[in-house]
Amino acid sequence: MVMNELIKKYERKFADFFDISNAFAFWKGRVALYAILKAMGIGPGDEIILPGYTCVMNVNPIKYIGAKPVYVDIEPATFNIDVNLLKDKITPQTKMIIAQHTYGYPCDMDSIMEIAEEHGICVIEDCCLALGSKYKGKLVGTLGTAAYFSSQWNKPYTTGLGGIVITNDDQLAGEIESLRETQMCRPSVGEVFMLWAQLVTYRLFIYPRTTALAQNLFRYLTKKGAVVGSSSTSEFVPVMADDFFKSISNVQARSGLRQLDKISDNIRHRKELAQLYDHFLESKGWSSREYDSSTSEPVMVRYPVRIVRKAEALQQAAKAGIELGSWFESPLHPVETPLSVYDYEPGICPQAEKAAGEVVNLPMHPRVNQKTVERTVEFMTGFVQVESGT
Ligand SMILES: Cc1ncc(COP(=O)(O)O)c(C=O)c1O
Repeated sequence: MVMNELIKKYERKFADFFDISNAFAFWKGRVALYAILKAMGIGPGDEIILPGYTCVMNVNPIKYIGAKPVYVDIEPATFNIDVNLLKDKITPQTKMIIAQHTYGYPCDMDSIMEIAEEHGICVIEDCCLALGSKYKGKLVGTLGTAAYFSSQWNKPYTTGLGGIVITNDDQLAGEIESLRETQMCRPSVGEVFMLWAQLVTYRLFIYPRTTALAQNLFRYLTKKGAVVGSSSTSEFVPVMADDFFKSISNVQARSGLRQLDKISDNIRHRKELAQLYDHFLESKGWSSREYDSSTSEPVMVRYPVRIVRKAEALQQAAKAGIELGSWFESPLHPVETPLSVYDYEPGICPQAEKAAGEVVNLPMHPRVNQKTVERTVEFMTGFVQVESGT
């Protein structure tokens, strides 16, 4: 399938933001990862390393092509791959390391690249939660062989659903292009219409105080098949649907172009909000973010904090109109994921499992303002913080 001018314009604009030569947009972020794996010729018997603190939708493309996911535990402050544990996971079958920049914190890319080069393995960046973050002055997404992004509802900017790959590797780009031409399907008219209707509803009605209510309604309607959900229960089985490898629609591309016009404001807003959260949390005696500011300039998608009695906090927050998020609720989010089916044995990533039981995340999107931050912090500090190193 050949992309139209509108989609190409969106791809060019996205690529230009990163000063990268190629961008390819898809229906979802997970489809973008699938395109990379397939274009690289990954297949049965190959091993792909990724953090044991991710979303099962991110593991599905690996399983769809018959490769094996190999999980590395996270380091507790940034929730990113613990590079000290990485070498031990590399085998002759390892073909790729997925560097997931969790919540917006950049991974320790120098160490990851060094280990990868030593073993002749490629590094792909998962930037689904990090748009605009920098590592040693460079935008994340420009450091590995390729990177993929998501523009699903909760991501740095939203086009409802959406994913995009960027790469400077022209050979890989050529492979992705030919996959698109020969294997990709179009979303149906009904799906695109529903997505458009959801986007309109979202832009008109979703504010921090209404989010919890809207999310519950959205989940209910997704189960009933009345809306286009970002995930469905059929995706807890690693079997690829016939229409999985799907293109982006014009509705998403148009929305993405508008979002890219506002990208600098979005990034500035997120940086300011993160500093406000740091300030208000510290003023209440809480520890704020811990990351290496000499190498990392994070742009947070959400602001993670660790607490005791997480479940209770989530319940109370929903009642109080506080927009508290909870990913990842399991090493392979969400809790419904049958872990053994995805080659995860309980206990292999203890830090990730601990984080899944403690971390909630605070809102950062464009509709959050200082008042929301103050209300959210006031609510949070009614609970007890868990220090990341304990
Ligand atoms: C870290 C990470 N990578 C990739 C994805 C997949 O993105 P999408 O929902 O657009 O398929 C997700 C899912 O939300 C995610 O959390």
